Amino acid sequence: MCMIIAVVNQKGGVSKTTLALNLGAAIAAQGKRVLLIDADPQQTAQDWAAVRSSPPPFQVIGLTKPVLHRDLPAMAADYDAVIIDGAPRNYEVARSAIAAADFVLIPVQPSGADFWASRETVNLVKDAHSFKETQKSAFVVSRKIGRTVLGREITDALAEFALPVLKAGTTQRIVFAEAMTAGTTVIEHEPKGAAADEIRAILAEIEEMSR
Ligand SMILES: Nc1ncnc2c1ncn2[C@@H]1O[C@H](COP(=O)(O)OP(=O)(O)OP(=O)(O)O)[C@@H](O)[C@H]1O
Ligand SMILES: [Mg+2]
Repeated sequence: MCMIIAVVNQKGGVSKTTLALNLGAAIAAQGKRVLLIDADPQQTAQDWAAVRSSPPPFQVIGLTKPVLHRDLPAMAADYDAVIIDGAPRNYEVARSAIAAADFVLIPVQPSGADFWASRETVNLVKDAHSFKETQKSAFVVSRKIGRTVLGREITDALAEFALPVLKAGTTQRIVFAEAMTAGTTVIEHEPKGAAADEIRAILAEIEEMSR
């Protein structure tokens, strides 16, 4: 059965594309067939695919209209996993991506402001949960700096939202930005590196929650 993962947050620049591409590569590295839907009119994932020197380890298709929930089930039949790279500031597309998803992953940077800005996304997820009972969702903290514990304001924000937060997350690491700019992923570029370990740990938690 195909699993559809939507990486969404209405807030811009929180690592949606970085996580979508790297999770896609990590799933593909398990020998699975992956489709990545670039739902962002900025086409970052498609640009990434275009600057590569070799074909990406998964297919990348642009689909920026709010028809994901309608069209993805049929497209997904040929794949083991579909990852949607969500668009910032687009309510209709975010709602469609969330409605299509089995798992909604909400990246946030470790600041209170980022969590508050995720409120609209969280509301969409809670709406979707009410009619899609098996759907799972979680925050993933991206670009953590060092070993800092999450601040008080974030802990408070999390309590208010009442959604799970993955134990795994990503740290601020230049290799994530370098890999993306070069049209690759940390999984391909440095499979034994700490960044690749972070991505695989996030994937393992998603798989565990989806059992
Ligand atoms: N863990 C990380 N360490 C260092 N840089 C990172 C990390 N995660 C993301 N970045 C960088 O931060 C920038 C924003 O990341 P990304 O494009 O993934 O965010 P996004 O949520 O997809 O943005 P948008 O809302 O514009 O689509 C990029 O330049 C990316 O390389
Ligand atoms: Mg993006």
